[in-house]
Amino acid sequence: MLIDGHGRAVNYLRVSVTERCNFRCQYCMPEKPFSWVPKENLLSFDDLFKFIKVGIDEGINKVRITGGEPLLREDLDSFIKLIHDYKPDIDLAITTNGFLLPELAQKLKDAGLKRLNISLDSLKPAVAAQIAQKNVLAHVLEGIDKALEVGLKVKINMVPLKSINDNEILDLLEYARERNIRIRFIEYMENVHANSDIQGMHGREILSVIKSRYTIKKVGRTPNSPSFNYEIVENGYTFGLIDPHKHDFCEDCNRIRLTAEGHLIPCLYFEEAQSIAEAVKNNDIEKASYILKDVLANKPKENKWGSEEDSDNNSSRAFFETGG
Ligand code: 5AD
Ligand code: SF4
Repeated sequence: MLIDGHGRAVNYLRVSVTERCNFRCQYCMPEKPFSWVPKENLLSFDDLFKFIKVGIDEGINKVRITGGEPLLREDLDSFIKLIHDYKPDIDLAITTNGFLLPELAQKLKDAGLKRLNISLDSLKPAVAAQIAQKNVLAHVLEGIDKALEVGLKVKINMVPLKSINDNEILDLLEYARERNIRIRFIEYMENVHANSDIQGMHGREILSVIKSRYTIKKVGRTPNSPSFNYEIVENGYTFGLIDPHKHDFCEDCNRIRLTAEGHLIPCLYFEEAQSIAEAVKNNDIEKASYILKDVLANKPKENKWGSEEDSDNNSSRAFFETGG
């Protein structure tokens, strides 16, 4: 089992396979970055897999594939199959914007994928287009339907933004409830890459919108998850709220992140990272394992969103590198 410097057991690895994206969400990547990581710096699936095996052998049992937009990476299904075949009972999922799912959902399911987290910020074509800066909604909705049809489990993520999609919280809740899928509302996490004009909603503001229609009761945190769950008393539906500004979930944070270039990142908020690229390219598995343990030994205690000493609460880390 992997234990970090604060005594937390770490069993969850998030792997970003590309920082590129076909959307330009206002809260993440409003402009195309000045430069992308050159393609030749990306680790091959084989090299990423070498590190994932190290992690699995040390006790990782939950792997998330993220981006950028992971479905942009060619042959992602073959990568999923490598991981699935190595440990079929691993909790393996992809976080995606859903745009390419109409074509890819079946292939991914066949490769052994079980679950998807899909971003859905609006049910109005113009608002979805305003957020993603592209006409995306029809494809995304078709992608969600396709994923459900082929038997993948789906969760929806929504980031409510003031004066943009804050009037759709209840509509998205109903959309998810009707399909019997979980929705999680995520507080906007300030970062220097986002459009500086946007304003997120506080968790309690999101809850008060829901309380205007329903009575809700606290269910509690899914263990090791940033999501705090609430049940709607009238119909028994459960939704989640991800509230990084409280950072009370840091206490049992069980995750570590690997970027497409091979940087191992101990916390989403911070810039610290060590590279495992050379180690895996040279097949030096012992070195990769050493770096993993060293990064864990230095994993920060908590993020700084909501912290008073850091007055702007703004992370300089790009989420499109680390997959949120
Ligand atoms: N704040 C909150 N959520 C974000 N995401 C991406 N950037 C941000 C941000 N700045 C979300 C996406 C996706 C998930 C991986 O992270 O909407 O659902
Ligand atoms: Fe792309 Fe996801 Fe960032 Fe939107 S939030 S730009 S879909 S990586």
